[in-house]
Amino acid sequence: MAKKTASETTTTAAAAAAPTTVASSETKLRMPAEEKYKDELAYLASVDQDVRPFAWRLSPRMIRTFILGAGPQDKFDRTIAQKFFGDPGLVERAIVTLASDRGLLLIGDPGTGKSWLAELLAAAISGNSTHVVQGTAGTSEDHIKYSWNVAMVIAAGQSRESMISSPIMTAMINGEMGRFEELTRCSSDVQDALISLLSEKYITIPELKGEDNVVYARPGFNMIATANSRDRGVNDLSTALKRRFNFVTIPIVTNKKSEKEIVLFRTRELMARHTIAMDLPPTMLDILLQTFADLRETMANASSEEQRLESALSTAEQIGVIEDALLHSNYFGDRVLKGDTLARSLVGSLVRRVPEDVSILNKFWHAGAGAGEEGGARKRKKGEEKTEPAAAATSSRGPEWEAFIAGGKQALSSFK
Ligand SMILES: Nc1ncnc2c1ncn2[C@@H]1O[C@H](COP(=O)(O)OP(=O)(O)OP(=O)(O)O)[C@@H](O)[C@H]1O
Ligand SMILES: [Mg+2]
Repeated sequence: MAKKTASETTTTAAAAAAPTTVASSETKLRMPAEEKYKDELAYLASVDQDVRPFAWRLSPRMIRTFILGAGPQDKFDRTIAQKFFGDPGLVERAIVTLASDRGLLLIGDPGTGKSWLAELLAAAISGNSTHVVQGTAGTSEDHIKYSWNVAMVIAAGQSRESMISSPIMTAMINGEMGRFEELTRCSSDVQDALISLLSEKYITIPELKGEDNVVYARPGFNMIATANSRDRGVNDLSTALKRRFNFVTIPIVTNKKSEKEIVLFRTRELMARHTIAMDLPPTMLDILLQTFADLRETMANASSEEQRLESALSTAEQIGVIEDALLHSNYFGDRVLKGDTLARSLVGSLVRRVPEDVSILNKFWHAGAGAGEEGGARKRKKGEEKTEPAAAATSSRGPEWEAFIAGGKQALSSFK
């Protein structure tokens, strides 16, 4: 094995430039963005000279900086970590929408960072990203509006005190961002309840009389909803509701450099959270990125749905694979991430349907997975069946690739 120096060939994830704002917490497994980046947000507010719409904590320009990051050239006294990787125009459009009368609907494939962007926006704008309603088939109007504390109603009747505000209503009362996750998963009458809420910006409470009858939204309230484009339903939203949202579509990140940064960013956070001091060898990251790129190309060229993996092969899935592999190496391995462990995690994450996904992956693996752009994927595009063993196709790529290929084959054979 070639000798390598830590600085040349490895990124010591825990020790390397882990974002200084990542605070470890003993009491919360996962901190909301406003807590995690508390220092950054306070700093940006202190230097913010621009006009802030409504009661926003930051101006649109500073919100963009918070989300997209700032380096030395931006003349801030500190670096601001980039948290969302994507088209700056898309982020700007999202921010502008939230200052308008319309709500924001983030649409995209699973794992493209919709919820993450929604959380960052709510944290930067309102300092609170936790007014969240999760859309499911069982979501009712009560989840959007309000319900009652039955014991209090029995004891003292219906009043504002015995009313339980939904997260959206709380956001309205506070003049903050309300979030609605997976909007298209709930029934159309629940979706339609949002129409009046988004246009009138108040909720009536017919059970109460006088002034208590209506809850008005304070300035600063708006809604950030997300919808998965793989779930059927974005087109099924009623025209009236569509008109009350600006749609922002988030594409899958296919740029390898950005993808690498996202995966590294999340991996560092993960390792800091688990206090894992392990190396993340760049070769392993390259193998992962290349394999995903090849798989995506293969899936794009597949002639039918049956020949495609169920997985969207998103960046989030790459993060999941590397997280799994690192934890496995840390707890069961010798604390060095190896090719076979990575392959096993990858197969484990991508096989959801047995035997369909196993057979698709087997074909991919045996046709030269990891042979890179010049190898597997491109040959397959021309319809050539590659029969040579994958290891032969990749032997020039080094022992890590070989271990990866062998590990993948072994993991796939365990499904037989
Ligand atoms: N463009 C991106 N920039 C930064 N992080 C990203 C990006 N895309 C994905 N991620 C990371 O992927 C993880 C999953 O993203 P998230 O949960 O927001 O996806 P989603 O689009 O809401 O998926 P789903 O439709 O399944 O709910 C997050 O931890 C996020 O950090
Ligand atoms: Mg989501």
